[in-house]
Amino acid sequence: MKTNNWEYGGIYKDFDMEGVITLPNDSKVKVCDLTKELPSFMLEADTLFIDPPCSTGNLRSFHTKADQILPYTFSEFEESLFGRIMEIKPKYLFLEVFKSNKDAFLKHCKDLYQSVETYNSFYYNSRSKPCWILHCTNETENRRYEALEDIDEAKAIAWLCTNHEYNCIGDLCMGRGLVGQNAYMNGKKFVGTELNKKRLAILVDFINKNPTRQFGRSKGRYEIKPDFDKPLEDFKEYQ
Ligand SMILES: C[S@@+](CC[C@H](N)C(=O)[O-])C[C@H]1O[C@@H](n2cnc3c(N)ncnc32)[C@H](O)[C@@H]1O
Repeated sequence: MKTNNWEYGGIYKDFDMEGVITLPNDSKVKVCDLTKELPSFMLEADTLFIDPPCSTGNLRSFHTKADQILPYTFSEFEESLFGRIMEIKPKYLFLEVFKSNKDAFLKHCKDLYQSVETYNSFYYNSRSKPCWILHCTNETENRRYEALEDIDEAKAIAWLCTNHEYNCIGDLCMGRGLVGQNAYMNGKKFVGTELNKKRLAILVDFINKNPTRQFGRSKGRYEIKPDFDKPLEDFKEYQ
């Protein structure tokens, strides 16, 4: 019998992945192809962090993993991605890029934003796997964060979700949901789209397995407490 290597543990079967999925803090996600649809809730994002596919091969492989055949070229995907970013108009855009798309994506960013800073980064915790994070804004404040220089991209996402000022962070290519997980752990709102329901289900599962009953600041840091033994300074309650 042929087995699918890309079932991601079959977690998606435990959840209804159809339509808009509402999560704590009025966060919302949807399984959809960003070239075909931009759910209106994505317009709520004032900050975007996106780690999009970076080449034709990479884009095709994500379609294969989603049991789909790639229906467009990488340039068409690239045009749609920046079209969506222009529709959302986030105050801050953080874009993860690789050697294959760095120059082209940097040019788009410079067309859209006055300030574009680049951080050296890497992925899978390995300095031999380089990538870059572009930090784009028209705001005069927070144009560069020293803390983001030369750290793993997953740590950069965690740092931003904790320390950057935002009301709602969005990700058009959520994948397994690092942006959503970290925003959630900071008690913040997030929105996102993702092509592959099997990958997005990992985020839904994470939130389901980590129900928080209160969150808030404690000594300047956001914390999630599983119970009310020690109420936090400005705690909020949900669920
Ligand atoms: C490099 S991964 C992002 C990883 C993500 N940061 C995470 O936490 O898992 C890129 C994601 O883009 C998704 N993707 C590819 N094409 C897409 C499209 N047209 N619309 C929405 N998502 C897409 C892929 O399925 C994949 O999950």
